[in-house]
Amino acid sequence: MKKIVIIGIGSRGLGYAEEILVCGQDEIVVGVVDPNKDRIKKVLQLFPNIEKDMIFKDWKDFIKKKRNVDAVVIATQDNMHTEPAIACADLGYHILLEKPMAPTLEECKKIVEAAEKNNVMLTVCHVLRYTKFFKKLHELIHEKKIIGDLIHIQHFENVGYWHMAHSYVRGNWNNTNKTSSMLLAKSCHDIDILRFLVGKKCKKVHSFGSLLHFHRERKPKKAGEAKRCINCAHEPKCVYSALKIYMRDHFDRGWRRWPLTILTNDINEDNLIKAIETGPYGRCVYECDNNVVDHQVVNLEYEGGVTAGFTMSGFNIGGREIIIQGSEMVLRGNMNTNEIILTDFLGEEVFRININPDGSDFHGGGDKALVQEWLEALQTGDQSKITTGPRESWKAIRRFLWRKNQG
Ligand SMILES: NC(=O)c1ccc[n+]([C@@H]2O[C@H](COP(=O)([O-])OP(=O)(O)OC[C@H]3O[C@@H](n4cnc5c(N)ncnc54)[C@H](O)[C@@H]3O)[C@@H](O)[C@H]2O)c1
Repeated sequence: MKKIVIIGIGSRGLGYAEEILVCGQDEIVVGVVDPNKDRIKKVLQLFPNIEKDMIFKDWKDFIKKKRNVDAVVIATQDNMHTEPAIACADLGYHILLEKPMAPTLEECKKIVEAAEKNNVMLTVCHVLRYTKFFKKLHELIHEKKIIGDLIHIQHFENVGYWHMAHSYVRGNWNNTNKTSSMLLAKSCHDIDILRFLVGKKCKKVHSFGSLLHFHRERKPKKAGEAKRCINCAHEPKCVYSALKIYMRDHFDRGWRRWPLTILTNDINEDNLIKAIETGPYGRCVYECDNNVVDHQVVNLEYEGGVTAGFTMSGFNIGGREIIIQGSEMVLRGNMNTNEIILTDFLGEEVFRININPDGSDFHGGGDKALVQEWLEALQTGDQSKITTGPRESWKAIRRFLWRKNQG
């Protein structure tokens, strides 16, 4: 029996608890750490045998002594990964660490060194690498060599207009003074997956981006001085209205999961309206404390000359798209339709594959597949399927953190 403790039972931590319950054969959650009592209760509903002395408010209490634990999941916020990760590595626990590993290069380095020094398995949650979708693309490019030689990749992270407003304008990742930059918070998955698909080290990067739309100067005139959607004259016409996003587009249509779980632990109309009236998620998108970019492009050149272009933008319906050009054929993938299409240079379709994502997460089944492979690695000690180990994950984002540290 492998005993696991989850540190940080927010949206991600609870998701991992649910996946461990579903996928676990001989693995069990024996402890939880979170200051929020309501969130602890949710884990206790899944794992009612958790002992009282294995419930902690703060990761600092949990790491005070060595406990009868094999592994931890660290799903606290970005700026609270480094210290618990190093402490847990020093205690000899294997670690599933949420991405981004840490907000600075120095911290990432310390985490890698702690894991290696203590010989613990550290897996970073770059969930896209575990999806059938990207595994298939990798297989078609490298094992089947279906497009000839890889030349160029164009990859789009369409964040989606409401997800942009929710997480990066009103929410947890809206300001670099308290959290990671947009590229690190949202797109470290994409930068990592490009490295995975190219299979080479990145040599050069350049990038542009800005906060073009979500600030006061772009506020529609009709919205006047309104600071919240609830009392705004422009609200019925605003695509970013909190009442539209959370109530009309989600709650009223029977949706009861994320992003509503971020507004309230107990989803009902009264609680949601109260959150929109008083909380951060009811603020006017043109009147928030956000500073992260709403669109950004990155050009990358890899060893051997393969290039990639990456676009992150909040102004779309959402979902990742990719175009992979080889010396003989072109592959196109769309994570909304779950389709991969191969065409020749005359534009003729050679084949079209539909990838069943196997799971209802927002990552093409990557969350479930990651947990399955992590649990297997815990049981067998075989890390070969864990493609997002400490060094690999660090390498993927190192160049970006270096840039950030240089200002
Ligand atoms: N892999 C992915 O695709 C993916 C997707 C979204 C978010 N993330 C990352 O996952 C992490 C968690 O995100 P989230 O959306 O679940 O955040 P969240 O804010 O919902 O959860 C964080 C939890 O940590 C708890 N916490 C605060 N202080 C603590 C302490 N001292 N000890 C223990 N717990 C403490 C909070 O109460 C909260 O429940 C972030 O780093 C985020 O960037 C990853």
